[in-house]
Formats: sequence, C-alpha cells, structure tokens
Amino acid sequence: MRLMLRVFYFKLHARKVTQQIIYEYYGIILCFGVKLMGEYHIKGGRRICGEIPINGAKNAILPILASVVLNPGVSVIHNCPKISDTKVSVDILRAIGCKVNEEGKTLIIDAGGVNVSDVPADLVKEMRSSFIFLGGVLGRLGRVKICKPGGCELGERAVDLHLSGLAKLGVKVCDEDGVIECTADKITGCRINLSFPSVGATENLMLAGIYGEGETIISNAAKEPEIVDLQNFLNICGAKVKGAGTTEIVVTGVKKLHDGEYTVMPDRIVAGTYLVASAITNGEITLNNIEKEHLYPITDKLMETGCKINFTGKSVTLTAPDGRLKAIDELITNPHPGFPTDMQPQFVTLLSIASGTSIITETIFNERDKHIYQLKQMGAD
Ligand code: UD1
Repeated sequence: MRLMLRVFYFKLHARKVTQQIIYEYYGIILCFGVKLMGEYHIKGGRRICGEIPINGAKNAILPILASVVLNPGVSVIHNCPKISDTKVSVDILRAIGCKVNEEGKTLIIDAGGVNVSDVPADLVKEMRSSFIFLGGVLGRLGRVKICKPGGCELGERAVDLHLSGLAKLGVKVCDEDGVIECTADKITGCRINLSFPSVGATENLMLAGIYGEGETIISNAAKEPEIVDLQNFLNICGAKVKGAGTTEIVVTGVKKLHDGEYTVMPDRIVAGTYLVASAITNGEITLNNIEKEHLYPITDKLMETGCKINFTGKSVTLTAPDGRLKAIDELITNPHPGFPTDMQPQFVTLLSIASGTSIITETIFNERDKHIYQLKQMGAD
C-alpha cells in the first residue's frame, strides 16, 4: 500500500519560547478534535488543572450506530458523546428508516423500519467514517449504495481493503464515479487477510459477516479497543464474534440479532488530549472513567517527557514537572497497540516546547502535518 511506503519524519528542535506562547499552543490542541467552526480565542497563561470525567468514544459510537441497523429490533446505547459526528450518524439512521429517541447521553434506536439502501450522499460527505454504514446496511438489506469517503485533510482515505474483502465474501461490488453499490443475495464466509490492519475495513467486514453463511475470518485485523467495543455490543445483540483485540477475528453467521443495551467505552483520544493539555501548561489533572490499558501507549510517552502518571481504578492523574518537558528521541505512529496517529498533532505541539530534539514519524496518514505549519507560525522550530 502506497501510504505504508511513505514515512514522514518531523524533527523538532525545541527552543525557548515565552510562557505565553506555550499556553497559546493549547489553542491548537483544542482545534484538533473538532471540526473548525468559526474561531477560537484562547487567553493563555493558566495551568490546566482539575478533575474531569471522560465521555464515550467517538470511534466506538460511530461503528456501533452503523451496526444497530443489523438488529431489526431496539438497541439502547448509553454514554453516547454529544458531538456532531454522533448527530450525523443519527441523521443517517433516521434517513434509512430508523426511529431514534435521545434521552441525555442515551440513544434508543428502533431499526425495525430500515428500508432505504441508498445512504444519503449529503450526510456521508459530512462525515468520512459514515462509510461503516456500508457493512450494516448491506448485511441487513442485501444492497447498499454509498459514496466513497474520498481524500481529506489527513491525506488519502482509500477503501480498497473494504471492497476487496467484501468481494471475497461473494458481494458484487460496483464502483462508479466515487459511488459504491454493493449487492449480495447471500454473504458466504471465508478467510480475508488484510494487507494492512485498517480499522474501518475490519469493522465493515465484521458487520458484513454477521448474517453471512459460516465463518468470516479476518486476519491481520485491526486491534484497536474500539473494535473490541463493537464486538461486545454485537455479541450482546446475539452475534457470534470472537477475537477482537487480536490479529484474527472470527464472525460466525447467525440468523437474526435481537434487542440489546450497551454502554460505549471511554474516549482514549479525548483522555490523551486532556493529559497533553495539562502537561503543556505544567498542570496537574485527574481524568475519571478511563480504561488504563487503552491509555498506555500515550501515558508511556508522557512519562518519557518527565510527567508523572498515576492510575487508580478507573482514574488517571498526570503531574507535569516543574520545569520544562523533555524531548522524546523516537515517536512513531502505528496501529494499536502502537502510538495512535490521532495523538500525533498533540504530541508534536507538546514536543515543540520540550527541551531538546524530538523525532516524530507519522506512518498512518500521509498528510497529517498541517498543524506543523501553524506551530511554526507561532515560533516552533
Ligand atoms: C480510524 C479512526 C481514525 C484513526 C484511524 C487510524 C474511526 C471512526 N476513525 O479511521 O480516528 O485515525 O482509524 O487509527 O474509527 N487504508 C487503505 N485502504 C483501505 C483502508 C485504509 O489504504 O481500504 C489506509 C487509509 O488511507 C489510511 C490508513 O489506511 O491512510 C488507516 O486507515 P484506517 O485504519 O482504515 O482508518 P479509519 O478507519 O479511516
């Protein structure tokens, strides 16, 4: 795959910047996780300290909401993050025939009426990850028409692995002018070996296999915790999925899913972002409702910068050093359990004020570097 051949090195030479500028960097971090809507004005000069609970994970709720389509009954999902991507997913669910009720952070979805196999293009274009609806709608209705996600500010967003995997399962895949139409009278389980552990391809193939005949075996599967969350939800609804979190996932086809209730896992990227924000401002922060195993790839690197990390139960406390943070010799983004690409911009920001030179290598997205030009404008070297 082309992207794997490209490796991007960001070499950062930290230099002395005023504390005011250091705190202004925090503004950049705030912008990483959200769509840019208007402007943010950040008044710097404060340590980021305190205690905060972590919400449900964006990358878990999105595939779960795509998978509820497979259950012709009612799914109740708790701890849904109130973010625009959740709203887009809900809009898609309604557009294809679901009834959705919202009660605080709980979504109650009745997918009994799903009867539309054309996923509305305007909604898909709003959110690249809506491509996961491909597997859900195809599995339920035997047909789906959905736009390709296309490239984005992070670079290429190829879907060849999704499509070649589906073709192996006996799905007829037609790709015309960026619109994918998939049809299948039946899905026939088989072994699919992914050449790269794509998160989205793993999820789409899991969903496609739920009503397949026999076993769908995904090898070299993505191991991200959100995939384990998807497996757990599907199994609560009567699916037979095992192996998520390892390199091989086995989906044994079932005849029908049933009603299910589930609580979404906490967002490890949001948690990591708060930890970095606090570290950058020499702060001290406690995050509640976290899963420590999910955070190790991030907290291990924060400890290398001189931060103290203390886990107790479902909480983590970060205490930044009094002086400057230390550089990290080598930081390489990789599929889980490697260092997550979604934390790369935050760490580039942090390391640009650390003492010494850090070398950061991005291997997942070929254009995830836009923040660097902004940081340079703020004096980063
Ligand atoms: C998911 C996450 C995203 C995270 C990314 C990598 C969600 C909703 N989003 O995105 O936050 O940054 O994982 O951890 O869960 N690729 C191909 N062919 C394919 C599929 C992917 O070449 O068929 C490439 C992509 O272009 C990209 C890389 O593989 O460069 C990673 O993609 P993938 O793991 O699929 O990420 P997403 O599921 O899109």
